[in-house]
Amino acid sequence: MNRHFNDSFTDDTMNIGPIHVDRGLLLAPMEDVTDPPFRRICKRLGADIVYTEFISSEGLIRDARRSNQKLLLYEDERPVSIQIFGGDENVMAEAARIAQDAGPDFIDINCGCWVKNVVARNAGAALLKDLPAMARMAKSVVDAVKLPVTLKTRLGWDKSSIRITEVAQMLEGVGIQALAIHCRTRDQGHEGEAAWEYIEQVKKVVSIPVILNGDVKTPQDVVRAFDTGADAVMIGRAAIANPWIFSDAKRYMATGVLPEPQTLEERLRVAMEHLTLSIESKGDRYGIIEFRKYWGGYLHAMPLATQARKDLVVLSGAEEIIARLDRYREEVADFNRRREEWSVERADGVTV
Ligand SMILES: Cc1cc2nc3c(=O)[nH]c(=O)nc-3n(C[C@H](O)[C@H](O)[C@H](O)COP(=O)(O)O)c2cc1C
Repeated sequence: MNRHFNDSFTDDTMNIGPIHVDRGLLLAPMEDVTDPPFRRICKRLGADIVYTEFISSEGLIRDARRSNQKLLLYEDERPVSIQIFGGDENVMAEAARIAQDAGPDFIDINCGCWVKNVVARNAGAALLKDLPAMARMAKSVVDAVKLPVTLKTRLGWDKSSIRITEVAQMLEGVGIQALAIHCRTRDQGHEGEAAWEYIEQVKKVVSIPVILNGDVKTPQDVVRAFDTGADAVMIGRAAIANPWIFSDAKRYMATGVLPEPQTLEERLRVAMEHLTLSIESKGDRYGIIEFRKYWGGYLHAMPLATQARKDLVVLSGAEEIIARLDRYREEVADFNRRREEWSVERADGVTV
């Protein structure tokens, strides 16, 4: 029998300090996406561990408002990790202490961000070009806090400099408790296919948990990703349009049966739940404005969605939004009715 289906997950437990997760599905840290409302929605839909957006260590020690806002955590999203980035080991140590005071379950260090203004500050993926600096930074954060510290990185700077097995051993040696690998190089950005085969190699040389990340888009991908020997699977972009990926993948792993796609009603129900959480944590005005970027995801592949989305992204009152969604439901119901009539007539042989 395929080992993924119907077995108890006890042999596959991943431990990060006191956190134990069986065949865990993790929501990847994503700037401008994984804010508290989105994290809480993913948690409700089955994500086992969630991460904040990355937070600038410089911003934290300067007490910058935007960085501080990102420290806000909710009890119902645990276990949750705060991810920090920066290029200076002392600043990172201080930032880690500030992050720890916000009460996450563990701290994650970003050594994978590829964007120019991060790399230019010797932060994110730039550390892949200076492994001793990466080790020093990891150790200084580990030494600075009581919480477990994990790290997220890429395979290497470019194709010719992939040293991920060496990196993993080095990080385990300085006390990093789990390693998430986005299976691309910095040069690739988000281009090309993620090379999952490296996970198997890394698993052979370390005993800390190894988390696979990159291009996991479907429940079938999740099963394939665990076949590499990964201890957990981290999902980013696919969760934006489909936060149900977590519950769907779990059901698929447990039963081998692919769940039906979510109905329009279910999509709108969760969209409203998400919007409510957004308003709760950011207030009426910002809660609605900052939610706008998610409409495209919730309406993804739904009938007559283009106009509805265009209208929804400019509305700024909850009541107007509810009214527009009601109208959208009617438009879709009408569309479905007409489509049914049309197909009945066709089956009867009547020319239409
Ligand atoms: C909009 C966006 C924002 C991101 N922000 C972060 C971040 O703050 N920290 C981080 O480690 N990775 C960040 N990433 C990378 C993701 O965590 C993940 O490694 C990458 O998207 C590959 O996984 P996926 O194919 O499942 O999306 C971001 C990716 C996207 C698309």
